[in-house]
Amino acid sequence: MVKHMPHYDRIFEIMAELGIEKSVRKILDIGCSKGGFVEELRARGYDAHGLEAAGRHLDPAKDYLHNKYIWEIPTYFTDNFDLMVASRVMSKESVEALFRFEMDKEKLGLMESLGIETFVESTTRTNNQNILEGANARLNLGGYLIAIETDNDAIYITPTQVQEAGLQVVRLQPQEMVLRK
Ligand SMILES: C[S@@+](CC[C@H](N)C(=O)[O-])C[C@H]1O[C@@H](n2cnc3c(N)ncnc32)[C@H](O)[C@@H]1O
Repeated sequence: MVKHMPHYDRIFEIMAELGIEKSVRKILDIGCSKGGFVEELRARGYDAHGLEAAGRHLDPAKDYLHNKYIWEIPTYFTDNFDLMVASRVMSKESVEALFRFEMDKEKLGLMESLGIETFVESTTRTNNQNILEGANARLNLGGYLIAIETDNDAIYITPTQVQEAGLQVVRLQPQEMVLRK
């Protein structure tokens, strides 16, 4: 049983604010961790899928939880989604916390040689660029990408990046981003 996190409620609220809670069917949770939010979406009747690079712990019987990287979205998925969510994935803090937690030797070595700030910045920028490209490739026309952050973390994206990715800004705040294809 995966536990409910309070910030999931904010995503449901944003869906309600956009008036899409009844019209969306197929949803992708990008960076779904253990898949807690995916389970909550499925319990509400959505065809929800999760994508997680650190997904060794995912239950293989749950074929809707995919052990894949963000950059694989355009090639791995063949169907389109009505909605994508990225919860606590698009801030520098989320990325840095992950590296520190994982203590991956190769990444830590690179971090030390480049300087941690530069490394985290460039990795977050690439990750977020891949999220935008994945959204552009695998969202239905009119589909939404919702991102949220918690604590004092901020979504690391600029309006220019969004525009260059061919998506439209609906809302771009430090802790809440809504884009539309
Ligand atoms: C801070 S956790 C957030 C988990 C969950 N979405 C939440 O709201 O609690 C960020 C997750 O995104 C995943 N992630 C980060 N970069 C990724 C990438 N390039 N491909 C797939 N998953 C990624 C991490 O492995 C991690 O599980």
